[in-house]
Amino acid sequence: MSTNVIILAAGKGTRMRSSLPKVLQPLAGRPLLGHVIETAKKLNADNIITIFGHGGELVQQAFAAENVQWVEQTEQLGTGHAVKVTLPVLPADGISLILSGDVPCITQDTLKKLLDASTSTGIGLVTLTVADATGYGRIVRENGKIQAIVEHKDASEEQRKIKEFNTGIYAVSNAKLHQWLPQLSNNNAQGEYYLTDIVAMAIADGLEVASVEPERAFEVEGVNDRIQLAALEREFQQYQAKQLMQQGVHLIDPSRFDLRGKLNAGSDVRIDINVIIEGECTFGNNVEIGAGCIIKNTDIAAGTKVQPYSVFENAVIGSDVQIGPFARLRPGAKLADEVHIGNFVEVKNTHIGTGSKANHFAYLGDAEIGAGSNIGAGTITCNYDGANKHKTIIGDNVFIGTNNSLVAPVRIGNGATTGAGSTITRDVADHSLAVERSKQFEKENYQRPQKIKK
Ligand code: UD1
Ligand code: CA
Repeated sequence: MSTNVIILAAGKGTRMRSSLPKVLQPLAGRPLLGHVIETAKKLNADNIITIFGHGGELVQQAFAAENVQWVEQTEQLGTGHAVKVTLPVLPADGISLILSGDVPCITQDTLKKLLDASTSTGIGLVTLTVADATGYGRIVRENGKIQAIVEHKDASEEQRKIKEFNTGIYAVSNAKLHQWLPQLSNNNAQGEYYLTDIVAMAIADGLEVASVEPERAFEVEGVNDRIQLAALEREFQQYQAKQLMQQGVHLIDPSRFDLRGKLNAGSDVRIDINVIIEGECTFGNNVEIGAGCIIKNTDIAAGTKVQPYSVFENAVIGSDVQIGPFARLRPGAKLADEVHIGNFVEVKNTHIGTGSKANHFAYLGDAEIGAGSNIGAGTITCNYDGANKHKTIIGDNVFIGTNNSLVAPVRIGNGATTGAGSTITRDVADHSLAVERSKQFEKENYQRPQKIKK
């Protein structure tokens, strides 16, 4: 039987007060709708139909790489109307999961449970019971069986006391959607076509309406404003942090950790407070990350220690490396094992060989540095002539003196040494010493100027 996923994403999201469509607002670094599409993909759905409206072009562009079928709802006449516009593309048979683009944390497990419960009945929904369900559609039951969903605005005083509400996530047989949706009316308090009315239609058809509850409440939390977005971000972060800790990652304080993507971590990885991990990162065994680091799309091999406030992006770091504090690795930085990178060192598109060191204040860009070399404090690779980038090649066991300007393209041979303060514009042969600096001038018994007395 085919499984389809229908995602409602046409709403305006007025309360976000943003020029960005609501479903593109990020949660844990990914658009809300991106989370839902990702979950739909994990379910191996035969097709994913997304209903768009407001900001449609931006939304479609953001997911151009995804295999999603887009259906436009030009006027937002209600959730029932939204699903109705998919009927021309919806297969006659099979079952559809109906999800909301602004309910990003629903899990594969809960949706599988929903599908299991709904396949025989033809209709099922995810509900949740809370102390106060104000605002939500209430689940009306008789003898324990669902009879209807009544929207808050249409509900009686008595019905408003019901604590079980509709989360807006359903599984419905396609045949039934084709049958029921054309029959919806907008004769209600909001003048909208309510998708929720299909529950009463199911009862009229003699069907039983299945229901499941999510394992965790945040799975069904929707985002309507920035306050809810921030609250859900925290809940999602806590959930991810817990999963990492269960896998053996030592987070010093899970409430001060942010993962905006995926972290593959070995054993005994230790992460201090206020670290942000973005994109996809892999940390080997015993990696330690100091406080305040921001690490994006970077692989760090076993035993490497990163001191506080270091910022990495698209870098590859070997094992037993020492970095920071305040180090910056930009895209293409590749550090072999046992490299030392100290404070205020910036590395871009540069390979640094085993055991080499740049411990203080340096810019290493577009360079190849061999093994066992030492880069003095304040050294700059002058890689850019204002038009083009050029390479600096530094061999093995090189000693670059303090405060060198290495004007690329330039090659420093194996075992070579450069004097402090040199501006190196020509290649240096293996095992040579190159010094480029003017001679020191000295005046004996020099008298400094005196302040003129008035
Ligand atoms: C809906 C449910 C309510 C449930 C609540 C859960 C109905 C009538 N009510 O209420 O029972 O408790 O969700 O959050 O369905 N959308 C469209 N096109 C439209 C209208 C809405 O795409 O014409 C999308 C919205 O962008 C949103 C989702 O559908 O993603 C839900 O719409 P929303 O207006 O938030 O529904 P509620 O009135 O809150
Ligand atoms: Ca809503």
